[in-house]
Amino acid sequence: MKRTDIVDLVGSDKTNVKVNAKGWVRTKRQSKNVAFIALNDGSTIRNLQVVADVAVIGVDVLAKINTGASVSVDGILVESAGSGQANELRAENIEVLGVADPDTYPLQAKRHSLEFLREKAHLRFRTATFSAITRIRHAMIFGVHKFFNDRGFYNIHTPIITGSDAEGAGEMFRVSVLDPKTPPLDEQGNVDYSFDFFGKETNLTVSGQLEAELAALAMTKVYTFGPTFRAENSNTSRHLAEFWMIEPEVAFADIHDNMDLAENMLKFLVRYVLDNCREDIEFLDKRLKDEEMHKKAQDRSPMNLIERLEFVLAEKFERITYTEAIEVLRNSNYNKKKKFIYPIEDWGADLQSEHERYLVEKHYNKPVIITDYPKDIKAFYMKQNDDGKTVRAMDVLFPQIGEIIGGSQREEEYDKLLMRIEEMKIPIESMWWFIETRQFGTVPHSGFGLGFERLMLFVTGMGNIRDVIPFPRTPQNAEF
Ligand code: 4AD
Ligand code: MG
Repeated sequence: MKRTDIVDLVGSDKTNVKVNAKGWVRTKRQSKNVAFIALNDGSTIRNLQVVADVAVIGVDVLAKINTGASVSVDGILVESAGSGQANELRAENIEVLGVADPDTYPLQAKRHSLEFLREKAHLRFRTATFSAITRIRHAMIFGVHKFFNDRGFYNIHTPIITGSDAEGAGEMFRVSVLDPKTPPLDEQGNVDYSFDFFGKETNLTVSGQLEAELAALAMTKVYTFGPTFRAENSNTSRHLAEFWMIEPEVAFADIHDNMDLAENMLKFLVRYVLDNCREDIEFLDKRLKDEEMHKKAQDRSPMNLIERLEFVLAEKFERITYTEAIEVLRNSNYNKKKKFIYPIEDWGADLQSEHERYLVEKHYNKPVIITDYPKDIKAFYMKQNDDGKTVRAMDVLFPQIGEIIGGSQREEEYDKLLMRIEEMKIPIESMWWFIETRQFGTVPHSGFGLGFERLMLFVTGMGNIRDVIPFPRTPQNAEF
């Protein structure tokens, strides 16, 4: 018999129909005459209740059905006598596809810690929390493409292996086929990458932006959505060494157009998840409430998950300059009472996530976009302001997350860009093609990068970025 997805069975209003369901056993409760099996196939947060008469299915078969086992059930979908569900599957025949020994299967019916589940990432898709996150991640990917497709953007695949450092921060993973024991050396004793696969030093990309700019300077509206890699040693709950980034790039657009696009996109995506993932969001909302209950009262978030999502939709994001942000922070009670780990003293300091969250959660009480940062703390490609001190950067700050988007208007003037590249000692030979676009038909243009996992953290209410990507890569960890 043909298998039906469990989402269609639990949502069906048909009764007394013969169906087949396949999936993995979440729990089994058995009395003398009857067993109740909660079955899930990943298609929904809800489990299908399978009711198995011991006399019909047999004690031997039921003995093999434990948490984690995979089964195929033929039976009749009937109205449920129990209260937890509208219908249930009265089993006529159960085939055990794969057993799971209860003594060694790592996932038990009880709740496991997220830390424990990270060690079991090969199995954690089988938990309610991770299946919900997986479905939401899919919906968000789809929503991103829909947002851009509906607005006439073209998706560009930018290279993953690259010879340039887009952010100029030097935090890259080398890609090489040279023998690490006996690499060819040049006269100065340095590794001679002209013998390497590409005939030069190459790395995994930190951003698709530079190539997206090339495409935007012909196609006008483009975006990339690809994996990016950063060899920064940041062991925080917001950093991954491998993460996915969405990077739109738009010609004939200034920083204000850029802010509008960022705000519209974030609101679209938050609306999208509320509209399309309601059951999973409600489940995660409840999960977050349970988690918050275990925290000390002063550490509890004032908002539940659905409130957080609606908070973002409610108002226009606050738009301020870096200089204004520094003033607010410097004069804040937090700063005066030394509640910041990094006290705010002088103009020019980079903002830490504690400052970003203060602005969003305590001061403005809405998402904040900060523009016009000091040029010394931002990348070489950002448009320089006339003050000689700041650049047309923009960071979008969210509650709980801090920076969710980083972007800018780009420096489109050839001389100014070249000056900046020289000042920052960036090797021009790896970047000639980027600079050349400023010599031929240059135009004002802007773009930004949205960290997909930061967005996922926000929409799921999870606290650690390792739990919103299936297989996280972090310092000292590349298991699975
Ligand atoms: O601010 P970033 O470094 O900006 C860029 O890479 C630009 N080239 C983007 C552009 O203008 N096209 O990174 C952009 C976003 C951050 O705001 C953050 O959300 C995310 O990427 N991000 C990370 N997410 C997870 N782990 C990390 N290590 C991240 N680093 C940045
Ligand atoms: Mg940034």
